[in-house]
Amino acid sequence: MSLEPLMNAQNLFSHIGQSKIFKNRAVLVSDFVPVHLPHRETEIKRLVQILSPALWQSRPNNVFIYGLTGTGKTAVVRHVLGMLAEESKRRNVDVGIVYINAKKDDTSYRVLFQIGRQLNLNLPFTGLSVSEVYFRIVDHMEKLKKVVIISIDEIDYLVRDTNSNLLYKLTRINSDLSNSQVTLIGITNDTKALEYLDPRVKSSLGEEELVFAPYNADQLKDILYSRCNDAFFENVLEENVVPYIAALAAKDHGDARKAVDLLRKAGEVAEREGRDKVSTEDVKEALKEIEVDTALEVVTKLPLHSKIILASIAELSRTKKIVVTGDILLKYTLLCNKLGLEVLTPRRVSEIINELDMVGIISTKILNRGRYGRTKRIALNVEVDNIWKAFKKDDLLNSLYQ
Ligand SMILES: Nc1ncnc2c1ncn2[C@@H]1O[C@H](COP(=O)(O)OP(=O)(O)OP(=O)(O)O)[C@@H](O)[C@H]1O
Ligand SMILES: [Mg+2]
Repeated sequence: MSLEPLMNAQNLFSHIGQSKIFKNRAVLVSDFVPVHLPHRETEIKRLVQILSPALWQSRPNNVFIYGLTGTGKTAVVRHVLGMLAEESKRRNVDVGIVYINAKKDDTSYRVLFQIGRQLNLNLPFTGLSVSEVYFRIVDHMEKLKKVVIISIDEIDYLVRDTNSNLLYKLTRINSDLSNSQVTLIGITNDTKALEYLDPRVKSSLGEEELVFAPYNADQLKDILYSRCNDAFFENVLEENVVPYIAALAAKDHGDARKAVDLLRKAGEVAEREGRDKVSTEDVKEALKEIEVDTALEVVTKLPLHSKIILASIAELSRTKKIVVTGDILLKYTLLCNKLGLEVLTPRRVSEIINELDMVGIISTKILNRGRYGRTKRIALNVEVDNIWKAFKKDDLLNSLYQ
């Protein structure tokens, strides 16, 4: 008897066709720069006004932009820089435009390298000192004879590098130039960065300041609707999906990135399940998946003993309503024995518990237990099941529970 394949290729792939849900999924990925930015008209106008002197070759003021994550800072700046490039071309005025993300290029050398590259100056990847690169850029700029706008997004990554005086140098670069002029745009979502910032840099960058307020639920609705027509086929979204997501994201400090991600993920869930409509149930499922992703990201980045302490907390949370430091110490010791590792001191364990609290994966509360003294009550901020799913994908933690 010959063995017939259970399924031929046609059958196997028969259910896989063109998407029934997404007309264009790319519209909902986070680095997509939309043409319309509802509810940022004022910020756009203000930035255009600040930067417009560049069109008559006069130096615009520096700008410092801040606001919470997902409030449209990057989208607005990129949009306005794009418009400025277009308009300067139309008017035949040469304006240099540089956009850097300091999270990606987080050393002085890399930032300068990027500035050079975007101004068409060839620099070696390594091998030069930072000051040599700086002077090459100054020389190059002198030849360009134009206004150069340098925007540095997520500038806090440079501020954290206390050894770097690059920002200070950049704010003073005009004193090294006579033919060209530089305007700086600094962008951050880290209000603490303001405190670390060298006061001289702060006052220079802050010639103009723009604050991006969080979006409210109605604004988030408009933002989502403005993308729906391009992203989804007609009548695919159940009516309450967008208001539901907008309300959720508004509660979570008005983060448009979160809202857009959630909408895309909900569509992906519906598609995966073979449905032709997206419902609030899909949004709930998408939320869970996002939580697992976030937990996984946090978990995999933790140092070894922090992972084991988190595993102890997760294991205890399965059976106990209240988890306190003493329980964790015992469980942690057990797990270390199982892995053949030396235990850390109780004091260090307690510090790690505080660190986990700071990362946001757990929260702690001091409990006063009368004559038993004080202890800490510890609760997971992520559903235990989701922590467990994240553990499964982590080699060490997975090995603990094999
Ligand atoms: N007004 C808006 N209209 C349409 N989409 C928006 C709007 N504001 C933000 N978005 C979208 O939300 C996402 C996050 O926006 P953006 O990256 O500009 O936030 P951000 O303020 O720079 O956040 P972060 O501080 O984390 O860098 C992007 O996909 C962006 O396109
Ligand atoms: Mg940004």
